Amino acid sequence: MAQLTDRTAYSPDVPSLKEVFRNRLRIGAAVNTWDLEPEAEAGRVIRKQFGILTLENESKPLYVHPEEDRYFFDRFDKFVRFGEENGIALRGHTLVWHGQCPGWFFRDGDSDASHDLLLSRMKEHIKTVVSRYRGRVAVWDVLNEVLRDEGGLRESRWYRIAGEDYIPAAFFAACEADPDARLVINDYNLESSEAKADTMAALVESLIRNGVPVDAVGLQMHLNLYTDMELLKKNVRKLAELRRLKPDFKLEVTELDLSCYRWGDNAEDLIWTEEHERAFREKYAALFRFYLELSEEGILDSVVFWGLNDGVSWLNGFPVRRRNYPLLIGRNNLLKPAFFDVAGL
Ligand code: G3I
Repeated sequence: MAQLTDRTAYSPDVPSLKEVFRNRLRIGAAVNTWDLEPEAEAGRVIRKQFGILTLENESKPLYVHPEEDRYFFDRFDKFVRFGEENGIALRGHTLVWHGQCPGWFFRDGDSDASHDLLLSRMKEHIKTVVSRYRGRVAVWDVLNEVLRDEGGLRESRWYRIAGEDYIPAAFFAACEADPDARLVINDYNLESSEAKADTMAALVESLIRNGVPVDAVGLQMHLNLYTDMELLKKNVRKLAELRRLKPDFKLEVTELDLSCYRWGDNAEDLIWTEEHERAFREKYAALFRFYLELSEEGILDSVVFWGLNDGVSWLNGFPVRRRNYPLLIGRNNLLKPAFFDVAGL
């Protein structure tokens, strides 16, 4: 039933994932600005283990741009400074999303904003944020979760007001603000829903054919112990085919975790058994073997975990409050046997 070992992620004598996978995969994590004290425990874990970081919440429009004429960059600035001071690359998450986006974007007095007003606000937001960190934030999740789970475009407020137009416009605005940044379209369940993977492949194909500067598909990969690996590989391979249209096109794993509950299961805390432990270790090892295969082929170069350790994972609060164990680093930063399996690959 071993879930944890007695060694921490920042001990000098344990492997560093970023070193183990150097020149093969850049390994990262989602963090919050309170983690960014270099000598505190979280800061030591980050500096030892990770070569790329994403802010879990604080770079989203709700925090950066809560009112139309006020931007708040303090926390984003702290994140960028921490990355620069510690030689860690940075991802910007996220510019356009239906979640954590303040309502003012979509309103004009008592009515809905018009198509043109919404697009001009979106472009202004993107240009202001991306140009502030030009050359410093290497990758942007320009669009997040624009697809419906069953395929097709999500009928978000963005879509209802601006139709499909916001999609290319967001990439053009980001590219104008930083032509060298990698621009990503990011989504979940791409590995488990063929309909969603097909929609993504078709959408990105048409964007590329129309000269829209999209550089990568972000695979969030919020997985669970029951995720079908064969289907995952098939869907990922389908998306990898986009490279035919653009030789330097990439996939990224942007929000990896492995819940012990099935998708849609809202049961209370489970008791971790040897069965869970075996499935967890096998799945993580199989995943990383697949990532390494994709890295060899030049299509994947970055894998980011969604959270620093089990104790702070969003999955302890979603879809209900319960304990979850989705990462390679457990509570109190204690390493799991699965960490050593992966580090041995
Ligand atoms: O900031 C407030 C705080 O003032 C308040 O007291 C507290 C009470 O609930 O809520 C705090 O806000 C929470 C926020 O995280 C910051 O901690 C929200 O309730 C909570 O819903 C929000 O959850 C975040 C979620 O995005 C929002 O949809 C998760 O932390 C974050 O991990 C999650 O991240 C998303 C990615 O951006 C996109 N892909 C899916 C991924 C997981 O849902």
